[in-house]
Parts: sequence; C-alpha cells; structure tokens
Amino acid sequence: MKSIITGGAGFIGSHLCDLLLSEGHEVVCVDNLITGSVKNIEHIKSDNFTYVQHDVTKPFHYAGEVDYVFHLASPATFKMCVEAPTAIMKVNSEGTFNMLDFAKEKQARFLLASTSEVYGDPLVNPQSEAYWGNVSCTGPRSVYDEAKRFAESITMAYYRYYGVDTRIVRIFNTYGPRMQIKDSRVIPNFVNQALTGVDITIYGDGSYTRSFCYATDEAEGIYRLMMSDCTEPVNIGNEREMTILELANMVLKVTGSKSKIIHKDSLTDDPKLRRPDISRARNVLGWEPKVGLEEGLTKTVEYFKSVRV
Ligand SMILES: NC(=O)c1ccc[n+]([C@@H]2O[C@H](COP(=O)([O-])OP(=O)(O)OC[C@H]3O[C@@H](n4cnc5c(N)ncnc54)[C@H](O)[C@@H]3O)[C@@H](O)[C@H]2O)c1
Repeated sequence: MKSIITGGAGFIGSHLCDLLLSEGHEVVCVDNLITGSVKNIEHIKSDNFTYVQHDVTKPFHYAGEVDYVFHLASPATFKMCVEAPTAIMKVNSEGTFNMLDFAKEKQARFLLASTSEVYGDPLVNPQSEAYWGNVSCTGPRSVYDEAKRFAESITMAYYRYYGVDTRIVRIFNTYGPRMQIKDSRVIPNFVNQALTGVDITIYGDGSYTRSFCYATDEAEGIYRLMMSDCTEPVNIGNEREMTILELANMVLKVTGSKSKIIHKDSLTDDPKLRRPDISRARNVLGWEPKVGLEEGLTKTVEYFKSVRV
C-alpha cells in the first residue's frame, strides 16, 4: 500500500506517518515546512519512507501507483490566521483541488483533514456531523473556518461529480508531542508559561470549553476512517469537555508549576463551546479515544521539556 501524506512533517501528519509505517504502508510525506519541521520526521529510519519538499498549491506529480492520499497540509492556528491568512485559504482551496486531481489521476482514495471549526461558535453542544455550524465569513478566523468548509465542499463535488473515493475527517482540538511550543494553541501556551514560571494567560473568564484529543488517538481515528467505507464527514475527537480554567489548573498540577493564572480580554470570535459527538466514529469505525488527559498532558510536558534543553 502506498500513501501520500500532505502536511506529513507537521504535528498530526508526523504521527500519521508513524502509524502508517507501522501498518506496513510505503509513505511519501509532502510538505513545504511553512509550519512543519523535518525534526518531526527525523526519527523515521524506514526504507518505506520518503520526504518530498513541495508546496501543494502547485500541482503535485509522482510516478507510480498510489493507493491513499491523506491531505493534511494547512496551517491550523489562530496565529497563522493573523500572520498568513492567504496561505491558509490557498492551501485549502488550490491545494485541495490539486490533491483531489492527483487522487483522481491515480484512482487513489482521498482523505481531507477538516476541522471542528466548520461548526464555528456552535449553538448546539455537543456538535454532531449533522450540525451546519455558526460561522462568521468575515471575522479574523474566517480564513481558516471558511477555507475548510470550502475544502469539504470541493471534496464532496469530486466525490459526486468525478466519482473520486473521498473521506472527510473533522478533527477536534488535538495535542501531544511535536506541537510547536509557541504556536499560540492553548496547551503549548499554558505548558510553556508553566515551565518558564510566568503567569498563565487565560483570554476571557476561563468558562469557554474545549475537548482535547491525544495525537496518537487522532491518528488512529484518521487511519480507521480512511480504511472504512464511510464517505460522510466523521468527527474525531475526545468527548471529555472541560473549561479553559480547569485546563490551566491541570497544567499547573502536571508541571508542578507555581505560575499564577491571569485573565486578559477574550479573543475575537473565539468559540465558546467545543465538544464532539463521536457516535458516528464509534458506530462506523469502532473508534474511541484511549488516552486520558492527565496521561496525555504528562507525555506532552515531557516532550516540551526535552526540546527546551
Ligand atoms: N491540531 C489540531 O487540533 C487540528 C484541529 C482541527 C484540524 N486540524 C487539521 O489537521 C491538519 C494538520 O494540523 P496540525 O495541527 O498537524 O498542524 P501543523 O501546522 O503542525 O501541520 C500542517 C502541515 O502542513 C504543512 N503545509 C501547510 N501548507 C502547506 C502547503 N501549501 N504545501 C505543503 N505543506 C503545507 C505545514 O508545513 C505543516 O507541516 C491541518 O489540515 C489542520 O487544519 C488540526
């Protein structure tokens, strides 16, 4: 089995490379390193692994047969929405067109990495795949949210019009080793602040909720979806919902830090609630997360300590 992973040198993509290699796939990792790093894949010594530096907003060519295309390439943080908004829109539009054309040419199965952000600031909790979302099309996050909605739409068009065999995973907040400590996401932020002994910054009163899925659980869910017959979008995330204040206290506990918690103004359009309904993943893929937050946070903190020395 030969798999292409765009964004394979990123955080989730590198865990997916590990999983696919352990399942006996030949893996071609395609990345332009805008937010990824070769450090995330340098531990891979397998002869079944190849890295290709390429920007997928340009057409991708590869000789030989391909069975699966995992399209994960896309910056994914609020920081990048501010610093590189057009890159996010281009990779999810032109990049998705290019990788769908590539899958069509190779008659390969195609999986789009979408996001819980397609639900925007949800008016229902938990969010099932049937929910259409509550998304601003002009706010600072819209470059990501709307780009992913567009990417889902093109994916379904290739499925319906060209008969490409497609899958869509809606990834909920995922964390673990190989995240970048300064990427602006809440877990790296809190851990970095706790480890350096500075104040832990909560934007708003800390009552907003999130549900955090460990990276290896996420990779397993993505893999199972690709191997399944399910052509509908599938949520992959952890159902354990907690407030940001609870998370901050847990980070303090796991790191043993004496940092204080402080509050700043809420961020624009920050979703107030986030919790996946994973009934479809359970029923169709037989998947559910295995790694609890305390265990996952402990491993993540160990990782951040190891890359800081
Ligand atoms: N981490 C999460 O919590 C989360 C949640 C929802 C969705 N997702 C989605 O999962 C995917 C992976 O996210 P991640 O958290 O690993 O982020 P990441 O930034 O670590 O990985 C994204 C990778 O894509 C690469 N990339 C970006 N634009 C590219 C381009 N034009 N050509 C080639 N490579 C390009 C980056 O260099 C990086 O290696 C993304 O599509 C993201 O939107 C992630």
